[in-house]
Amino acid sequence: MTSSVRPESMQRITTPQLAKEFIDEQVALLREQIGDKKVLLALSGGVDSSVVAALLIRAVGRQLVCVHVNHGLMRKGESEQVIQVFGKELDANLIYVDASDRFLDLLAGVSEPERKRKIIGAEFIKVFDEEAKKLSDISFLAQGTIYPDILESKGVKAHHNVGGLPEDMKFALVEPVKLLFKDEVRVVGEALGLPHSMVYRQPFPGPGLGVRCLGAITRDRLHALREADAILREEFDKNGLAGKVWQYFISVPDFKSVGVKDGLRYEGWPAIIRAVNTTDAMTATIEEIPYALLHHITHRITHEVPGINRVVYDLTPKPIGTIEWE
Ligand code: XMP
Repeated sequence: MTSSVRPESMQRITTPQLAKEFIDEQVALLREQIGDKKVLLALSGGVDSSVVAALLIRAVGRQLVCVHVNHGLMRKGESEQVIQVFGKELDANLIYVDASDRFLDLLAGVSEPERKRKIIGAEFIKVFDEEAKKLSDISFLAQGTIYPDILESKGVKAHHNVGGLPEDMKFALVEPVKLLFKDEVRVVGEALGLPHSMVYRQPFPGPGLGVRCLGAITRDRLHALREADAILREEFDKNGLAGKVWQYFISVPDFKSVGVKDGLRYEGWPAIIRAVNTTDAMTATIEEIPYALLHHITHRITHEVPGINRVVYDLTPKPIGTIEWE
């Protein structure tokens, strides 16, 4: 078990060569630690768990069992990317659990944000635990802990820790990137051959679209949100904003306004664009998106996404607004 304190002498991993040295060293250590035993990992498709998965696949191949729980609140294409990259390209031992109905049924009618978060967090643990119990011969639990997780206060994390796992799971922990900062995890991820879009993915809250489908989640509004968000991401990608803006997304509130479509009165939800820059998410400023692009995104969302009839741009910095709407 390695120490949880980053030595002063540890060099920052900034180049593919340094990443390769880290990978070689970790692969040797992981093989020594794990031997011929099996390791379990909750693979969300986020940067940290993906890099840990790729590292473990390199070290112990199919002795790693990855469980990807689709809670029905993923962005468009995310679970598909996990299946494609890990299940197909890296030949991982991947268990895909589509638990969308379970989560959405539990969330039906629940509008209070913290209750929504708690339901999603608790159900995630339940689903993962059920899968773990089906596997009898697991010795280790891998986690995508990174150094800021160790440095940050537990209080802050507890609120965010949707991927938190059952406390009674009696596995030894495998945390190969726990001394790395986020930028280093990304360099290592690229050196392991993961797609750029996965490694440089913007932060995505554990409860996912659940906190962006404001108020009580309904399937039709969640679908509209997912489609509108996909258009925003596609346009930011095409227009060079994806690598520049720290976090950008759509939220859809649970009220409608009147509009007209094809000469008829048409009630729809508004899509709210948020595009913020920050270094630590404690404060945030608003990105200046060119007006022409905002017009184009508005046109696409209102014409391509059934149910949405307005697009608004949230200009509120943090403070005074939080980044998410709930
Ligand atoms: P706020 O809205 O508090 O968000 O300004 C700050 C950052 O945290 C993310 N966020 C969450 N992440 N679980 C998470 O894993 C959550 O419940 C959660 N709520 C907010 C948010 O996306 C932003 O990056």
